[in-house]
Amino acid sequence: MADTKAILKVGDKEVELPIFEGSAGHPVIDVRSLGGAGYFTFDPGFMATGSCESQITFIDGDKGVLLHRGYSIEDLARDADYLEVCYMLLHGEAPTTEQYAEFKNTITRHTLVHDQVNNFFRGFRRDAHPMAMLCGTVGALSSFYHDDLDISEADQRLRSAYRLVAKMPTLVAMCYKYNIGQPFVYPRNDLSYAANFLNMMFSVPAEKYQISDAVERAMDRIFTLHADHEQNASTSTVRLAGSSGANPYACIAAGVASLWGPAHGGANEACLNMLEEIGSVDRIPEFIERAKDKNDPFRLMGFGHRVYKNYDPRATVMRESCHEVLAELKVNDPLLDVAMELERIALNDPYFKEKKLFPNVDFYSGIILKAIGIPTNMFTCIFALARTVGWISHWHEMLSQPGQKIGRPRQLYTGHTQRPFSKINK
Ligand code: CMC
Repeated sequence: MADTKAILKVGDKEVELPIFEGSAGHPVIDVRSLGGAGYFTFDPGFMATGSCESQITFIDGDKGVLLHRGYSIEDLARDADYLEVCYMLLHGEAPTTEQYAEFKNTITRHTLVHDQVNNFFRGFRRDAHPMAMLCGTVGALSSFYHDDLDISEADQRLRSAYRLVAKMPTLVAMCYKYNIGQPFVYPRNDLSYAANFLNMMFSVPAEKYQISDAVERAMDRIFTLHADHEQNASTSTVRLAGSSGANPYACIAAGVASLWGPAHGGANEACLNMLEEIGSVDRIPEFIERAKDKNDPFRLMGFGHRVYKNYDPRATVMRESCHEVLAELKVNDPLLDVAMELERIALNDPYFKEKKLFPNVDFYSGIILKAIGIPTNMFTCIFALARTVGWISHWHEMLSQPGQKIGRPRQLYTGHTQRPFSKINK
């Protein structure tokens, strides 16, 4: 299978390591036999480690390329909607018109959650962070939908995937409604995926909610641009949790937990908090200086990326949407002025240019969400909603691969070697 080999000299031993070429991207050196030679590889943070084989998403961080199933994110953002992207992530091919209609119908008819789920919400404090509630309630779905869950069967795996894609908007909107003390709004089957979500978020029984086309389009685009991103921290978490054969809803709860952190999906919330802290355009230089100061832990949230060291193609598309939404909604918010000025200054600053730090997708999505009227603490929930399809597609792919193994990394141990234990007097 491997055309070329790497030879690794360890002491006086030589180990031959096969090199595998993918269809695109860097080749990988297969180090699995190294353990037999008495060595492990060491790569904290996975700076150069491929953890799996995948056919779902490809990223070329230097060229700013992002492909889902071979289709570029720019084409998808322009010509496809989120449900089409969901279909291709799960099934490998873009849907035909008939497949799309059937998929849309299936998702639409799975959006309700079991009524008992309401009781889970009632157990949370009203001021609980929505991500805390989301993590708990997604995991709780494992106690409702376990009857047809033989994860070795592709059909049953896909059924869980459909349920998750369908129910995430309902759960996310419930988190919001619970927070603000409004009644939960049931899904509506006559609306698109994005419009249904907005309706569950913003309508109240007393009044009809008018959904603007621009907002519905922007919401769908935010979902599309967050749908998958290869082996990022939360996706790798879902894969690792799922590698033991764990329940898919519990695995997605693990993904939600991982996404929550400010270095990952929590960045859009952190970014808006930062803009609030900056407060006004005249204070931007002070914060730029802090970001450059090695002794100051402050970072410009919404800037930089582990993989994209040139530009983030999602950010380019999101930027367009951002400017479109701001113009269309004619929102007048000083925070958005701070964001636009920060973008301008940072893009022209030699430090940021040299380190290839540019606004990432979360910078722009945060601004759009703010303009739409979504509170900051809901931002990461929306990211989780959109990313669920990516997580579950990876979980599905992993379990369909022959010879799938439980994930079990090794370590470089630097603690005490064996030492005597002295009993204390109790
Ligand atoms: N502001 C100021 N300096 C930064 C920033 C930033 N946002 N990001 C990186 N740097 C500097 C960093 O100090 C380091 O400098 P030096 O080389 O002098 O030590 C250099 O750039 C490289 O940074 P790194 O931390 O080694 O890079 P990384 O690949 O480990 O980190 C990152 C990537 C996204 C965690 C980081 O850029 C960051 O913390 N950004 C802010 C949080 C954020 O916006 N995250 C969302 C990422 S996109 C959505 C997602 O994937 O979930």
